[in-house]
Amino acid sequence: MQKHITLVTALIVLLISSCNTPNETNTIDKDPIGHKVDSVLKLMTLAEKVGQLNQYNGFWDITGPVPKDDDSQLKYEHIKTGMVGSMLNVTSVEKVKEAQRLCVENSRLKIPMIFGYDVIHGYQTMMPIPLAEAASWDLALMTKSAGVAAREAAAAGVNWTFAPMVDISRDARWGRVMEGAGEDPYYGALVAKARVTGFQGDLNSASTVAACAKHFAGYGFAEAGRDYNSADFSRSTLYNTILPPFKAAAEEGVATFMNSFNDVNGTPATGNAFLQRDILKGKWDYKGFVVSDWASIMELKVHAIAKDDKEAAEIALNAGSDMDMEGRCYVNHLEALVKEGKVKEDKIDDAVKRILRLKFMLGLFDDPYKYCNTTIEKAEIGKAENLNTALEAARKSIVLLKNENNLLPLSKEDKIALIGPLATDKDSPLGSWRAKAITGSAVSVLEGMQQIGNNENIAYAKGCVLSPETPTFKYEVKINADDKTGFEEAIQLAKSVEKVVMVLGENCFQSGEGRSRSELQLPGVQLDLLKKVYAVNPNIVLVLMNGRPLALPWEAEHIPAIVEAWHLGSMSGTAIAEVLYGLENPSGKLPMSFPYNVGQMPLYYNLKSTGRPTANEFDAGMVFYSHYSDVSNTALFPFGHGLSYTTFNYGKPTLSKTSYKKGEMVKVDLTISNTGSVAGDEVAQLYLRDLVSRATRPVKELKGFQKVHLEPGESKTISFELTDQELGYYNAKGEFVVETGAFEIMIGTSSAEIQTISFEL
Ligand code: NOJ
Repeated sequence: MQKHITLVTALIVLLISSCNTPNETNTIDKDPIGHKVDSVLKLMTLAEKVGQLNQYNGFWDITGPVPKDDDSQLKYEHIKTGMVGSMLNVTSVEKVKEAQRLCVENSRLKIPMIFGYDVIHGYQTMMPIPLAEAASWDLALMTKSAGVAAREAAAAGVNWTFAPMVDISRDARWGRVMEGAGEDPYYGALVAKARVTGFQGDLNSASTVAACAKHFAGYGFAEAGRDYNSADFSRSTLYNTILPPFKAAAEEGVATFMNSFNDVNGTPATGNAFLQRDILKGKWDYKGFVVSDWASIMELKVHAIAKDDKEAAEIALNAGSDMDMEGRCYVNHLEALVKEGKVKEDKIDDAVKRILRLKFMLGLFDDPYKYCNTTIEKAEIGKAENLNTALEAARKSIVLLKNENNLLPLSKEDKIALIGPLATDKDSPLGSWRAKAITGSAVSVLEGMQQIGNNENIAYAKGCVLSPETPTFKYEVKINADDKTGFEEAIQLAKSVEKVVMVLGENCFQSGEGRSRSELQLPGVQLDLLKKVYAVNPNIVLVLMNGRPLALPWEAEHIPAIVEAWHLGSMSGTAIAEVLYGLENPSGKLPMSFPYNVGQMPLYYNLKSTGRPTANEFDAGMVFYSHYSDVSNTALFPFGHGLSYTTFNYGKPTLSKTSYKKGEMVKVDLTISNTGSVAGDEVAQLYLRDLVSRATRPVKELKGFQKVHLEPGESKTISFELTDQELGYYNAKGEFVVETGAFEIMIGTSSAEIQTISFEL
């Protein structure tokens, strides 16, 4: 595409070359983009500045006739008059180009718009849902899969994704856990970095997109796991659990942040100056911009901290929200608020500068149509190589939860009954937040097994249905609770075979935004079906598809083999079949604890000790312990759990000494051996406990992990290095402190199976 040098670029060049003093020349050298941004800002009227802070949702068919309805007409006029800085949900080269053309060919300053879209785990080619991919513990893979998502999105004209979601959550009732990396802040921070790197790469390239760390901050702590609900947590939780992934994303140069809908400790995040001004833009000196969540500025009115949209705009802007997503509070009221002295123009200038900076970084001033190339669009989206990455990611995200008597892997000679509503589902594996995934385009488990196993030995019965057959993004999240007419066929089939594979779980829209659940067991009649089939043939492999941890106490006790297969994306069925038939040795580990029951929520491994002894095992006889009288304190399947078709032996961890000085590196070594008969990957995990500290600290916290490949009989010695960064914590004032005293290091195959070694600092 021919370079489109806009009027603004020409003006900047002129300004830079004509009037630079020696001092200014220095600044240009240090921050050339900052200098260009300032030059543009000088040209802008207040109205144009406000326009940059306004983001509209894509509306009429932008490539069709001029819209007739009043609202679309207004947006259309606003684009033409430079009153829109960004749009969301405008996708495809044709549409982005048309919207951009409207803007740069009509507005006075011709400042290009940025185009945002929720590319969460793929654009058209679907990678596993983020929670699933986090189970791979493979950061390079996450970077690679985010890179594929970015390339496809960028090829469709999009240059900004609203991802990664880096919210830590400890509550599986919250449907959005599918979008994050689970419950651990240390791991969450590393995943945040990996995903930001993958989406953004070199921001100036036309094949990557700007990323967005969301939802700042505390959205994942919505009370009772009910989406959008208020969150109330301590400063210690804020600094040590919620903020680390955001801080990591900021340090990785994430271009933008999104705030959240909910009320956080008494102030909605969107109007929260402590979070946005003091921490993000203050302490962290973050240079990117903050976009509101969808109309969350307007929602300040519903939260009842603002009497109307105008006051909402005043609160949000003053609190550091830079861009208003579809809420229209800024575009309608900011000018008046400045004139009335309620919002200082320099705050608006600061927000505008942040947005312009990104536009320069993306190269949009040089070429507003930079992401609009139909040849690339055709070649990139859905290409075979992208599907290969989706397959690799799907394989690595599978977690083997249980495998009694080595029921798995299956042999091609086994006669198999495949049962369950999700076994032939080609849509649910695509997951929630599926951007432009083609409905029904995933490889189903049946298809995968037919490709890899022996078709003649596989018979299928649905057993029951998850309603609706093809869920839509709408609100059809109900499940069919009572139709058991398919049971008999499934039972008869199970009787006639050696092994049964049952694919049960949640459909794709039972998790995701607004999809909270108050129960965590298999929905509908699925558990009933499972029990009936078990009664006639207990050789069952249960394959789970779900977007959150489920409560599976009966299943864990009775079913010999359980495979956690989440919603694995486009290549789901192939990856699952490879694992079932042993072509792929599973290596995933849970990034979130699986409970016995919903009453354990919030459940997380890195809990504190309490003042009372913690009864680890269910013991109803003991009353004054910190425990339940009807269920264990611990998880059914703990954080970090995941089996393999081989076995690993952990040698004794060793430290070179028992006492260290502050600032000194603590290095711990240990040898891991593959003691089984097939090659495998093991994720060795290191947990730490600060035995005495001024603030209460968790009984264990992940502070390192390594994924090691081992051939049968092979041993490798691995080392973990701990610095002050791992040994310290944030006190309630938000200061990072490292305290001397005794520490314990725990290393093992999961958070529940560890060996301990101690040292003094
Ligand atoms: C609301 C969601 O909370 C947010 O994550 C998303 O990016 C926006 N809608 C835009 O679709």
